[in-house]
Amino acid sequence: MKIMIIGAGGQLGSELVNILQDDVLIPLTHIDIEMTNQEQVNDILSSNMPDVVINTTAYHRVDDCEDNVEKSFSVNAYAVRTLAKICSELDTTLVHFSTDYVFGGEKGIPYTEEDMPNPLSVYAVSKLAGEYFVRNICNRHFVIRTCGLYGAKGISGKGENFVELMLKLSKQKKPIRIVADQIVTPTYARELAFKVSQLIRTREYGLYHMTNEGSCSWYEFARTVFDLTGIKANLSPTTAAEYGAKARRPAYSVLENRNLTRLGLDDMRPWKDALKDYLSEKGYL
Ligand SMILES: NC(=O)c1ccc[n+]([C@@H]2O[C@H](COP(=O)([O-])OP(=O)(O)OC[C@H]3O[C@@H](n4cnc5c(N)ncnc54)[C@H](OP(=O)(O)O)[C@@H]3O)[C@@H](O)[C@H]2O)c1
Repeated sequence: MKIMIIGAGGQLGSELVNILQDDVLIPLTHIDIEMTNQEQVNDILSSNMPDVVINTTAYHRVDDCEDNVEKSFSVNAYAVRTLAKICSELDTTLVHFSTDYVFGGEKGIPYTEEDMPNPLSVYAVSKLAGEYFVRNICNRHFVIRTCGLYGAKGISGKGENFVELMLKLSKQKKPIRIVADQIVTPTYARELAFKVSQLIRTREYGLYHMTNEGSCSWYEFARTVFDLTGIKANLSPTTAAEYGAKARRPAYSVLENRNLTRLGLDDMRPWKDALKDYLSEKGYL
């Protein structure tokens, strides 16, 4: 298949580039394409005519989004609408990523694809708008909600993600306070990319939850990084209220991979096993 990856320099995009090596790839970084430039997006897609477009781009600094509503909607919703229209016109399959933050956290047990969203922040509302544009404009779509991503290249390809941040802070011997009242599922970008490579060959279009298995608080996630690496860190739990982030986040946003299970494709591993692999591949174990 001829596959265009937009956001190829990022955490998930770079893993997709590695995993899809047997396909004909057109990897595009932010230098190659500006998603908010409609004309450029149209030109690049029309001249390359890919079978599949995978869009991993997002404006996802969740707290900054609160002050930058225009930019959030421009990147996460309007640009996605344009992309969906172009893909529909060219009869191209569109793979688009969304977030666990579309949910409000009230449910307390894992959210399925059928559950009603209740986004609490500008970021979450803009991502949900992007989802709806894709689902309603482009028939051949995969909209994939994931959670707590970490990957070798780090966010924006700059080397930092939650795991790396914890390791960096521990080296600085500073007290580390992490929220213990937000429950998520850390998800290894490499494993997600592998699942995406399987899903896009099924033609079973639709909405999918795709995370590693199980759940934990951000505090437990940090604790496990230190336990596995044997690092003694000055780590203590805090609450979201004490931490006082600008954007509201759901207290519980664990996703059930129900639609993936229906296809017999949900063998995503427990999050601790995936984390061990990441730490070992990065040379920390
Ligand atoms: N990270 C998480 O924990 C998480 C959780 C749930 C869902 N998601 C979703 O998963 C997807 C992938 O996330 P990720 O962690 O791989 O993000 P990432 O590392 O930041 O990768 C996104 C890439 O898109 C590029 N980009 C951003 N805005 C662009 C624009 N306007 N035009 C062209 N390129 C642009 C970025 O380049 P620059 O950095 O140069 O701008 C970056 O290389 C996103 O849709 C995100 O919303 C992420």
